[in-house]
Amino acid sequence: MIMNNIYRLFLLNLQPMFLEEPNVEFFEGKDTEKAEKIISSDKTKLLFDFALSASALRDIDSVLEKTAYFFCKILNCDRSSIFIWDKKKKKLWSKVALGLDETIELEPDKGIVGFVFSQKQPIIINDPYSDHRFNPEIDRKTGYKTKNIIAVPLITYLGNIVGVIEGINKLEGEFDGEDLKFAQILSTYAANSIENALLYSEIKKTQEEIVVRLSIAAEFRDKTTYNHLVRMSIYSYLIAREMGFDEDWCEKLRLAAPMHDIGKLGVPDRILLKPSKLTDEEFKEMQKHTIYGYDILKDSDIDILKMGANIALCHHERYDGKGYPKGLKGEEIPIEARIVALADVVDALLSRRPYKEPFGIDEVVDFVKKESGKHFDPKVVSAFLRIIPQIKKVLEKYGVD
Ligand SMILES: [Fe+2]
Ligand SMILES: [Fe+2]
Repeated sequence: MIMNNIYRLFLLNLQPMFLEEPNVEFFEGKDTEKAEKIISSDKTKLLFDFALSASALRDIDSVLEKTAYFFCKILNCDRSSIFIWDKKKKKLWSKVALGLDETIELEPDKGIVGFVFSQKQPIIINDPYSDHRFNPEIDRKTGYKTKNIIAVPLITYLGNIVGVIEGINKLEGEFDGEDLKFAQILSTYAANSIENALLYSEIKKTQEEIVVRLSIAAEFRDKTTYNHLVRMSIYSYLIAREMGFDEDWCEKLRLAAPMHDIGKLGVPDRILLKPSKLTDEEFKEMQKHTIYGYDILKDSDIDILKMGANIALCHHERYDGKGYPKGLKGEEIPIEARIVALADVVDALLSRRPYKEPFGIDEVVDFVKKESGKHFDPKVVSAFLRIIPQIKKVLEKYGVD
């Protein structure tokens, strides 16, 4: 019943598109009977599937792949490319070219895609080689023969153009007005999903950059490095993934892990930078970086910062209850902090410090095994031991300090 209502709503959304006659170079004209036939066809069901599935995606690559797949299926064409407008570069780029594994960059006013983009008009070309806008260069390079093209601007509900979608080589016959109607409906849904995904990735990038830069500020003070933050956050991510946490949670952990020592901002220089051994009193003051970090982050509504607060507070707790600041034991310690505790220590062991040479990976493995159930959660330890080859790859890529 709910499904039926959603479906009806979807059809209502389609109707204005059918009523509006697009201004195109090739168009068969509107026919009410035909429009009704289209509504009841499988293509409408596919459009419905597309609209539902694309709106649930946040990752731009997945949105592009899904869009290209449904575009090909609905229009029954051989391949599809999506060109996205890069405002900074002032170029159109394409990541998805189903059946053609090549990334292409285009000027916004050249070729068929450029024409569709700059004019904000859809187009059907059934004899591309006689069209002056068609660039046969790609065909020449790939040995592919373009026979016909449909290209539609990707325009959101609010009228923003985000790019162009193109279908090439209809499998039977030529592209026609009916194809165009479906292409336009799909393109509106696609444009909104693409715009949302682009905005989402921008927000994520901004968040990530702020977190890392803030964490560097803290780390700068005691001379640990940017690479330490990168490596330990990747180890944390890999361990969590191996333990079976979902991708979203693992990604959150990757972003939150660099904040573990953010509370060092509150530790006086005379203690933080003291070259000799700390007195008991000074060590107690140093331990407070966990509480300072928690205080900095705890009131945030942002999931990553909330997770960061737990990590900052509990990354020096030990599984056996002998850690600080609270002496929490076992599962009392939030799992994110149990994972980061191991990742942080592992990276410190693998790095050079003024008082020690870097450990080899085998020495680290021995140490971690010995500390299983003492310093570290045995479940985290066994996940870590299973991903040693991936840890080695991270080390190869980022080196040791
Ligand atoms: Fe710490
Ligand atoms: Fe650290």
